[in-house]
Parts: sequence; C-alpha cells; structure tokens
Amino acid sequence: MRRVPVTALVPGMRIAREVVGGHGEVYLQTGVILTQGYIRKLGELGFASVYVHDALLGDLHVPEAEDIIHDKTRHEAVSRVKTLLQEAAQSQAKAIDPPKELAQTVSDMVNQILNNPSQTLDMYDIRAQNEYLYHHSVNVCALALVIGAQIGLSRRELYELGVGALMHDVGKIKVPAEILDKPGKLSAVEFELVKKHTLYAEELLKNNATAAAIAGMHHERLNGEGYPRGLKEGEIPPLAQIVGIADIFDSLTADRCYRKAYRPDEALEMLLAAGGFWFNFDLVRAFVVNVAAYPVGTMVELNSGEIGVVVSTPKGFPTQPVVRVFVAVDGGWLGDAYDVSTLEKCLFITRVLDEEEISFIKKKILGSRQSTV
Ligand SMILES: [Fe+2]
Repeated sequence: MRRVPVTALVPGMRIAREVVGGHGEVYLQTGVILTQGYIRKLGELGFASVYVHDALLGDLHVPEAEDIIHDKTRHEAVSRVKTLLQEAAQSQAKAIDPPKELAQTVSDMVNQILNNPSQTLDMYDIRAQNEYLYHHSVNVCALALVIGAQIGLSRRELYELGVGALMHDVGKIKVPAEILDKPGKLSAVEFELVKKHTLYAEELLKNNATAAAIAGMHHERLNGEGYPRGLKEGEIPPLAQIVGIADIFDSLTADRCYRKAYRPDEALEMLLAAGGFWFNFDLVRAFVVNVAAYPVGTMVELNSGEIGVVVSTPKGFPTQPVVRVFVAVDGGWLGDAYDVSTLEKCLFITRVLDEEEISFIKKKILGSRQSTV
C-alpha cells in the first residue's frame, strides 16, 4: 500500500487503511473501491491523502506497514483528547486535568511501545484538516514515547512524558481558530498570539508540573531562537526537547491548510540539520534511528539506476531500506522482481518518484505485460 494525495486518486483504487474521524467514526473501510463520489467526499471532509492498494504494487506483494500503536488505542486517544479539549474550550476551564481514561490510554501506549522495541516507525497518520489538533497531539505522544524508550527512560518517566506530550498544545484552545487554520502566512500580530499557546498551556496544566513544563517549553530551542522566553541550552529540560522534536516531525509530515506534507526523508533531513542548534543532538539521533525515512510502499530510484518499491527498513538504518526492484537499469520491466538490501549492497536512494512518474511507469508496465500475453 502507499499514501496517495487525494488529488491523485482515481476511481478503482482500493482503500488500504480505514479512514476515520476524530471520534473513531469510520468514513471508509479497508477494502472499499474508490468511486468519483468517494474521492469528492474525502476532499470535502478535509483529507489530503489516504492509504491505497496499488494494482501495480499489489502484484508485487508489498507487505502492510504496521502502526507502532494499535488502531484501537489510537482512535481512543484521539477521541478522548478531542472530548477533553472541546469541553475545556466550551466551559472556558481554568485548569485541565487529564481524566482517568486518558491516563489509561497513555499507559496503553507506553506498554505497546515497550513491547515492540524492534519496530521501526513506518506509518504516518492521516487526518482531516479540522481534526488536526487531536491527531497531532496523539502522534506527538507516540513519537515522543519512541524517543523516550530509545534513551532508556523508566516506565514512570515515559508515562509523564506521554501525558505532557498529549497535552502539549492544550493552550491552542485559547487561540482563535481562524488564526490557527489560516491558509496564508501569519502577520506579526497573529504570530504573537499563536506563541501564547505555550503560556496558556502552562496555566491550564498548573496541577501537573511536568506536563506544564513540557507544554510551556516545547517551542524553546537550545540556541535561544525559540519562544516564549528564548531559553538556552541547560534551561530546557530533555522532556520538553523530546516533545519539540516529535512536534516538528509530525507537523512537517502532515498536510496543512497552507502547504502539502513533507515526505519523512525530507522531515528527517530538516531535523538532523536542527540537531545541535535547536535540540540536543543525541535526542535527535534517538529519534532518527527509529523512523523509516522511506515508508513501506514508497517508489524509489537507486544509484544503480534500478527502480523499485520499499518493502522494509532495518532498525537503526532509517535511510537503507530493502527495495523490491521491478525496473532494471535499462528501464525494462522485470517480470520477476527481486529484493535488494541497500545496506548490504552499499547502494543508496537517489530520489523518490512523484505521482506523475508513478502513473507513467504503471502505464508502461501494463503495456509491456499486455504485449507479452
Ligand atoms: Fe505547539
């Protein structure tokens, strides 16, 4: 399966991962064949991309990527965060205390990550634009826990990190939605208002010192470029830095109202460039080694000239996947695809193919198959 922008969907494609709303309501089940009507509806609901089975990839038996967090737990978490934040906004709450059920969800996420130490993070959530904050909170929580587990935090510390990560953006309930969802560039005044979400969160989370510190400092950067206080190295606790790293990665890899999602390899490159300046480099590395730069299903070209699809990524080598090659160096279709470990063969990926190139290759391959029948 692979993630395809809604604008590139065509009738006949099959949904590979169910499309759900903020309360776990299923809009499209796995296996549903897309029609023009469904594609239009996805756009109206604010989805920018979905996971589909590709006829071409289906023939190559590309394995399904597995989420590090179970679907049920993820849906539960999104739904509970949504309820909590909507109720707090409506009642103009002075304090937010995560309820027992949410604490249980964080414990479940900690357990699932600790039980799966060998899994590379290889699945990126999709979400409707108007549900962004809730999905973002849950993703940042999962990503932060992966870093926390990698650096050996205790179960208790992971739990506290998880709660803080889940609550890191609660201050946004006090920032006008039209600013948060503004499609264009923010004015200086608007940006000042957005920056305040950190201070609002500190206030709202006053009953939980760790969560308040994480939420208040997740936009601070080691070189003093962050906000709200421009703190420097030594003043920003590791847990807040971890959430800052997770926050940047999830924001970059999400489709936003003002830009398309960056690919994971692009987001990882940006994070690596920020390592040492914005964040402790060891924390950035702890994250990067756990994330597949080229998720399963990504079509890539190797420096050998071969073209194929990523089928897995070994733990610890995020940019060195195993690629199922189906276009030879001379551009010819290989009837029998073969797997190449870029790590073992000392090869590297030169580029990721875009939708236009993929559809061009598909036509070529289908043509060559028909001519051999
Ligand atoms: Fe934030």
